[in-house]
Amino acid sequence: MPAHVQTTTDEPAATQEDVAREWARRAERQGLARVMRASQPTPLNSRVTAATRDIVADYLRTAAADLGRPVASALEVGCGVGRLTPTLAGHAEHVTAIDMTPRMLDAARSACAGLDHVDFRLARAEELPWRGGTFDVSVSVWVLMHLLDGEQLSQVCASLAAASRYLVLIEYEGARIPVSRWSRLRSLDTYLALMNGAQVVEERSLDYGGDRSTAALVRFPHPA
Ligand SMILES: C[S@@+](CC[C@H](N)C(=O)[O-])C[C@H]1O[C@@H](n2cnc3c(N)ncnc32)[C@H](O)[C@@H]1O
Repeated sequence: MPAHVQTTTDEPAATQEDVAREWARRAERQGLARVMRASQPTPLNSRVTAATRDIVADYLRTAAADLGRPVASALEVGCGVGRLTPTLAGHAEHVTAIDMTPRMLDAARSACAGLDHVDFRLARAEELPWRGGTFDVSVSVWVLMHLLDGEQLSQVCASLAAASRYLVLIEYEGARIPVSRWSRLRSLDTYLALMNGAQVVEERSLDYGGDRSTAALVRFPHPA
C-alpha cells in the first residue's frame, strides 16, 4: 500500500493517517458541519440533508420493491454522525453502520438511541470489516471520495459488490471550490468499473450550491 497518494489539488499528498486525523478534527465541529462543508450556510446544509434522506429512502423503497420483500439487512459505510442512519433504520430490519472516527460514531449512536436493530462498528472501510457478510442494500454517501489510494478503493468497491445486492452511492463529481487534499473527485463510471456486474437502476444528478454530485441505485446480479 503506497504511503502517499496524489489528490486533485496542488496541496501536498495526504496519507491515510492524515485523512484519519482530519476526520477526527472535523468531528470536533458542531452540528452538520462535522460531515458537510463547514463553509456552507447552515440552511443549505439542512436542505441538502433533508434531500439526501429522501433520496436514500426512495432508493431503499425501490430496492425493497425489486426484491419483492422488505430490506432485511443494510450496511452503511461511513455513517458519520448518523445523519442518514435513522433513515436506513426506518427501511431495513437490521443495519450495520461503520465509521473510522470514534467521535463520529459516538454521535451516530446518540442519533440512533432506542433503535435496537442498528449495530455500530468502529472500522476503516479499507479493512473491509463487512467481509463475509451479505447485505440486501449497502449505502455509502460522500465517503468513497475520501479513499485516496486507487488500490484500496478497488478492493473496497469489489468487496461491496460481492457483499451487496444493491448499493446506494452518492459522491461528488465536481466542486464549486476545489476539494481539499482529503478528497478525490471521481465519476460514477469510475466507481462502477470497479464493481463486478454493476447495473444502474436509477441515477440522479444533484447540484447543491454549485457542488455537483451523482446519486445512484446500483444492482448486483447475485442469485436469489
Ligand atoms: C462526509 S462524511 C459523510 C458521513 C455520512 N455518510 C453522511 O452523509 O452524513 C464522511 C464520513 O466518512 C468517514 N470516513 C472517511 N473515510 C473513511 C474510511 N476510510 N473508513 C471508514 N470511514 C471513513 C468519516 O469519519 C466521516 O464520518
